[in-house]
Amino acid sequence: MDHSENSEQEKSEQGRADQERFPLFEKVRRNEAARMYIEAQNQATKALGYTEHGLAHVKVVADRTRYILETLGEEDHVIDLALTAAWLHDIGNIINRVDHSQSGALMAFQILNEMGVPAADTAQIICAIGNHDEGSGVPVTRISAALILADKSDVRRSRVQQQESDFDIHDRVNYSVTESQLKINQEHNGIKLKLHIDTRYGEIGDYFRIFMERMLLCKQAAKSLGLEFHLIINEMPLM
Ligand SMILES: [Fe+2]
Ligand SMILES: [Fe+2]
Repeated sequence: MDHSENSEQEKSEQGRADQERFPLFEKVRRNEAARMYIEAQNQATKALGYTEHGLAHVKVVADRTRYILETLGEEDHVIDLALTAAWLHDIGNIINRVDHSQSGALMAFQILNEMGVPAADTAQIICAIGNHDEGSGVPVTRISAALILADKSDVRRSRVQQQESDFDIHDRVNYSVTESQLKINQEHNGIKLKLHIDTRYGEIGDYFRIFMERMLLCKQAAKSLGLEFHLIINEMPLM
């Protein structure tokens, strides 16, 4: 067996294990309507000149949400609900960017209700979606705290959807980020967001100008999980 066959087999075994561990997430991920709303809202946010909010973004957010809660030893059912929230968290953008966390929570309620998800589980998911955005969001549960950290840390070059000549400050800052890593320390009392910024495209000061509120929400979310939040840009500890 060559290497590629091996990794394909490992991937499908991993996929089967994930389906057993996270059954709701797997079902929601295959839900056509949910996928359609995610893609459509990305078109709407792109038209507003925003960075990528589509399937690539929700996948990064789900992976990071899982990393945080798995590392902190959360049980599989809680991670399953958190992954579902991560997948659906931005669908409200299809209604309007303003208050998209609340409209998205109501849309998710409808989808989950139609799927027959128990009310206690739906409650956890819509609570996290409705609280994920800076401005009105508060890390009221462990799921919502993990979702905030996963979402607000997704800054990367590949999120930029505009031509360079049309870059605004958000595009410049996202474009400048060539590496981004979220890591919990071994003692499980700290979480680090490490970014590498190519300063030809964005200044570190620009990052703060647009992301200060988000980083403060991350700090609050981390604290609610018993973690101290650290932001490191180009090896410099800034928070
Ligand atoms: Fe959002
Ligand atoms: Fe998001």
